[in-house]
Amino acid sequence: MRAHEAGALHGDLGNRGPAWLRTPVDVNALVPQLWPRNVARAADGALAVAGLDVRELADGFGTPVYVLDEDDLRARCREFRAAFADADVYYAGKAFLCRAVVRMIAEEGMHLDVCTGGELAVALAAGIPPERIGFHGNNKSVAELGRALDAGVGRIILDSFDEIARLTALARERGVRPGVLIRVTVGVEAHTHEFIATAHEDQKFGFSLAGGAAIAAALRVLDEGVLDLRGLHSHIGSQIFDASGFEVSARRVLGLQAQIRDARGVELPELDLGGGFGIAYTTQDDPAAPHELAKRMRKIVEGECQAERLAVPHLSIEPGRAIVGPAVFTLYEVGTVKSVPLGTGIDGADGRRSYVSVDGGMSDNIRTALYDASYSATLASRASAAEPMLARVVGKHCESGDIVVKDEFLPADVQPGDLLAVPGTGAYCRSMASNYNHVPRPPVVAVRDGRARLIVRRETEEDLLALDVG
Ligand code: LLP
Repeated sequence: MRAHEAGALHGDLGNRGPAWLRTPVDVNALVPQLWPRNVARAADGALAVAGLDVRELADGFGTPVYVLDEDDLRARCREFRAAFADADVYYAGKAFLCRAVVRMIAEEGMHLDVCTGGELAVALAAGIPPERIGFHGNNKSVAELGRALDAGVGRIILDSFDEIARLTALARERGVRPGVLIRVTVGVEAHTHEFIATAHEDQKFGFSLAGGAAIAAALRVLDEGVLDLRGLHSHIGSQIFDASGFEVSARRVLGLQAQIRDARGVELPELDLGGGFGIAYTTQDDPAAPHELAKRMRKIVEGECQAERLAVPHLSIEPGRAIVGPAVFTLYEVGTVKSVPLGTGIDGADGRRSYVSVDGGMSDNIRTALYDASYSATLASRASAAEPMLARVVGKHCESGDIVVKDEFLPADVQPGDLLAVPGTGAYCRSMASNYNHVPRPPVVAVRDGRARLIVRRETEEDLLALDVG
């Protein structure tokens, strides 16, 4: 998370707008880095995406609705592929997965990461070649591993000694030799510009490097010879803005690579450096372009390989958020607007804040409530000449933490029936959506060249009742 999320805004779910928001902006302006590339205000002031008016989208599909700018997503795939030209780029499906998106990323030459049987089922149903699938997870079941072997997934990322035993037995039974990576816990937790280099061994993923489990796992797999150990894997965290975490992690993991060579005379041919590349949620975020990241990461890996006298392994990365996050915005309809006093000495706009309630909330975007994440919003169905007012966009759920956008300046004439758009909601919003309060989950609509296509339909109350069999 960005410094302002972790620090300045922490505990700021109370009264005052954060310092960076205290200067009102042009409420009609769209900051380009926050929006999919084909979103703009039309001549009459309403937002349009790839030539389609958001009011038509709302009429046709209802609200809330996740709107995907398909060309934007495809362009992000191509940017990553061009930047990491000699690497495999796995799209991390946990960010958002459905068959249409699997087909899009596959057409753009991407690989795909899945981490459960459910994600694997979607991937296979979409027809991506199984050898382009990587299978993650700290507790894959026997059934899930068996399905992965039967489907012929390209890489299984090993996460525990139990799993090594489980997969070895299953592979022996089937007489197959699956390609595997060892997930290494490198002891680096990346926080944007900082990282804390110790104490983060204390988590559930991977084999500890410092504790010796990682080398033991690699040697066990090599010595047993049943699984085809292709390389090492590390993933240091999410919403990372600085390559220094990758630097430490690459150094440590390549150090392990050298230890394995020294112990068994084997140079593992692959290295997966995981995902976690940050995106802009507000104007405070300034992510690096993929080609800059690629340049730095390649330099780090080449330097370390030279130091360890290793051949440079074939690289993989696993971006999820950076592919789909910025390609989507959520369109909501405003239901109520309530102005509340902020109390004495509080410097919101004229001492008041407006609570703008929309027809979704924490069921379609849990990230604000769960991670204290920051988002922005704009009036989407029209432009407005009204003064800016300090607003908080909230949902319709029965709890006060049901906040979508903590602080935003919206025009003071926002009213019921207006459409609001929240950008940057492609990653970890629909995929983490819930049915809290029996609110059906919104649909996903892909827009391209002026045409809208439903790719995930809206859940209905009948869907919810269908599970209720008592
Ligand atoms: N690879 C591995 C092994 C991962 O565990 C993850 C994310 C990724 C790749 C993709 O990371 P990305 O590029 O999307 O940051 N729900 C949280 C994020 C959880 C990420 C879990 N692993 C959020 O909403 O911020």
